[in-house]
Amino acid sequence: MNNILLKSTAKNMVVKGKGILAADESSKTIQKRFDKIGLKSDPDTNLTYRKMLFTTPGIEKYLSGVILFDETIRQSIDAVLIPGYLSRKGILPGIKVDKGTVDLPNFPGEKITEGLDGLKERLKEYAKLGAKFAKWRAVITIGKNLPTDNCIEANAEVLAKYALLCQEQDIVPIVEPEVLMDGDNTLEICKDATNRTLHSLFAKLKDNNVNLEGLILKTNMVISGKKCPIQAGSQEIAKETVETFLKVVPREVAGIVFLSGGQTPDQATENLAQINRVAGSPWQLSYSYGRALQDEALSAWAGKNENVEKAQKVFLERVKKVSKARSQQPS
Ligand code: 13P
Repeated sequence: MNNILLKSTAKNMVVKGKGILAADESSKTIQKRFDKIGLKSDPDTNLTYRKMLFTTPGIEKYLSGVILFDETIRQSIDAVLIPGYLSRKGILPGIKVDKGTVDLPNFPGEKITEGLDGLKERLKEYAKLGAKFAKWRAVITIGKNLPTDNCIEANAEVLAKYALLCQEQDIVPIVEPEVLMDGDNTLEICKDATNRTLHSLFAKLKDNNVNLEGLILKTNMVISGKKCPIQAGSQEIAKETVETFLKVVPREVAGIVFLSGGQTPDQATENLAQINRVAGSPWQLSYSYGRALQDEALSAWAGKNENVEKAQKVFLERVKKVSKARSQQPS
């Protein structure tokens, strides 16, 4: 384990002004995204779409990294393997290594993420393919009496084991416990669930001796559920989010990046700007958005070659806006 390398990679992932593009949709998820434009997903079509994103001129000014899916890390652009293509642009290639969620036995409505079996060998292969960082997503659901402590702890345990395996291979782990924003819960309930989740996560990371300077936290904002009749504004979201982190996230953590989780591109941009305006954060607070960076470009592309330039323009504009949001300073 090379702690100096891990620390420097992690720092580069959250370097000022830049953030991470999550383009690691599984085969099932990319089909869900393509459904919106009536397109059938297959490896060639997925590559055509992702190539449109990755070859956008100028994105390297705003993107420190891209998270890839297993299919994509083996594909090429102009006869260069994608990790090499991105590296040449100065963008760090990363890889999603979890195998998705299944029901948590005995805890109805809750999920556990799979993928630890054989992970060490897979990480070795990904390192050879050029991956500098990895991602593992755990899902925490809010509901009646949910999340349970059992679900939070079971996922935290697995995230810590994953993080350790990554660091052994000099791959920076992004640990992502996502408290979903799909319900009708208030912001306060999300805050409590997020606080419990992060508290348990950092306890397990400590128990497992994970090096926090070589780790990135990816998490949800503290936000109202999408179906909640009272929607908190961006200033409240920002204040409560930073307050939660200050209570539970150790200062040594190399950086924090947000998922967009179903927020619109504008909401995810504005909330990130407000979060960066809150004083007192010792961490870089950056982005690792999937939908909020891609949605507009996907619609503009609509699966047609003749739309590539237009879609790239739309993509670059959004990436620029999010980078600007991430660069806001406390007043
Ligand atoms: P969204 O920004 O679309 O939530 O995706 C981010 C991600 O990587 C989820 O694991």
